[in-house]
Order: sequence, then structure tokens, then C-alpha cells
Amino acid sequence: MISEEQVLECILTRRSVRKYRPDKIPAEILDKIINAGIHAPSALSKQPWRFLAVSDADLLNRISDYVKPLIYEKLKDVSSSSTKRYLELIGSENFSLFFSAPLLVVVLGDNKNPLSDIDCSLCAENMMLAAHAMGIGSCWIGSARMVEYSMDLMSELDIPEGFHIVAPVVFGYPDENPGKPEKNSPVVYWR
Ligand SMILES: Cc1cc2nc3c(=O)[nH]c(=O)nc-3n(C[C@H](O)[C@H](O)[C@H](O)COP(=O)(O)O)c2cc1C
Repeated sequence: MISEEQVLECILTRRSVRKYRPDKIPAEILDKIINAGIHAPSALSKQPWRFLAVSDADLLNRISDYVKPLIYEKLKDVSSSSTKRYLELIGSENFSLFFSAPLLVVVLGDNKNPLSDIDCSLCAENMMLAAHAMGIGSCWIGSARMVEYSMDLMSELDIPEGFHIVAPVVFGYPDENPGKPEKNSPVVYWR
């Protein structure tokens, strides 16, 4: 029987982790994470996902170096304090877009399926929750999608024909405890 407490504990304590130990994630753990992903609901159960696992630190660094200036260009005129803090980080040479995590898993969506982005997002959330239950941290790195502007990096990633990047998510053993999340109270409309 599933314990309600444990399920809620897992959901309520998952946080985006932005500091990782260098330890690799064993293949059998990655299998479990992906298995949790493919058990997500999907429209008409089409399961329009594929998974690209990237553990090559050099390739991740080159993607990071390519994307950082693009993010800077995109956000440089935004004045919010959180954006300014992020731009400061991006500006520092040693900052990795992937927080030096040992593994990036990119959930790829089927171009022909109009609902694949939704399905793949549910899949990614399942993966992040399963990882958290196993003591593994994760963070969705949305800005990594900008790698699509580089033909060279895209050819190295060798994304299968007919699929596109939906959810680039890093995984690794946490080297920080982000603590309790600050969440806005839900706004609920009853009819
Ligand atoms: C679509 C999407 C894109 C995101 N992109 C980034 C990103 O590029 N870099 C990053 O550090 N965090 C990114 N995040 C993580 C969010 O910043 C994080 O989920 C949010 O601040 C809430 O914190 P929590 O995950 O700890 O609850 C992204 C999350 C989502 C869902």
C-alpha cells in the first residue's frame, strides 16, 4: 500500500538543486528514473518521448559556453533583481549552466504530436520526483534549449530525426540543501 505521507513528503520537499557532487549516477539508477518518467500520463497514451543522456563533461561545458552569451543578450534589459542576480552568475567564467551536474537527461518530444510538450513535461516531473525519492537532486535547465541554435552542437547531440528538445533536466547527488520552498498560496475558484 502506498503511504500518503511518503508520497506527499516527496512532492513537497523536492527542490531544484544547483550544487552537485561529482559522483556519477549509476546506470541502474538512471533506468529507474526513466522508468518513472515513462509511467507519466500522456494524451491517448501516445508516449511521445525519447531520452538523451549526456554525461560528457566537455560537451556539457561547450553547450554551457555557447548558451550563456545568448541568455545574456536575451535578458540584459530585464530589470528584476532575480534576473540581475542570474546575469551576474552567467557572466562569471566558471559558471556552468548545468551547475556542473554529472548528468543531463533531455526529454525529447515527437514533432508530429501536438501535445508532446505537455506529455514530456509530465514525464520530466515524474523523473525529478523519482530521483528525489532516491536522494538524487535535479534541476530543469530550460535555457539549455537554446543549444538548438548551434548546428555544430546539435549534430554532436545527434537528436533523432522527428524529435525536439522539451525538457533538459540535470541530475546528480546534491551538495546543498535548498531548504523549504517558498510557494505562493493557491488561488482556487469554486463554482
Ligand atoms: C520550464 C522550466 C524551466 C526552468 N529553467 C531553469 C533554468 O534555465 N535554470 C535554472 O537554474 N532553473 C530553471 N528552472 C527551475 C526553476 O527555477 C524552479 O523550478 C523554480 O525556481 C521553483 O523552485 P523549486 O523547483 O525548488 O520548487 C526551470 C523550471 C522549469 C519548470
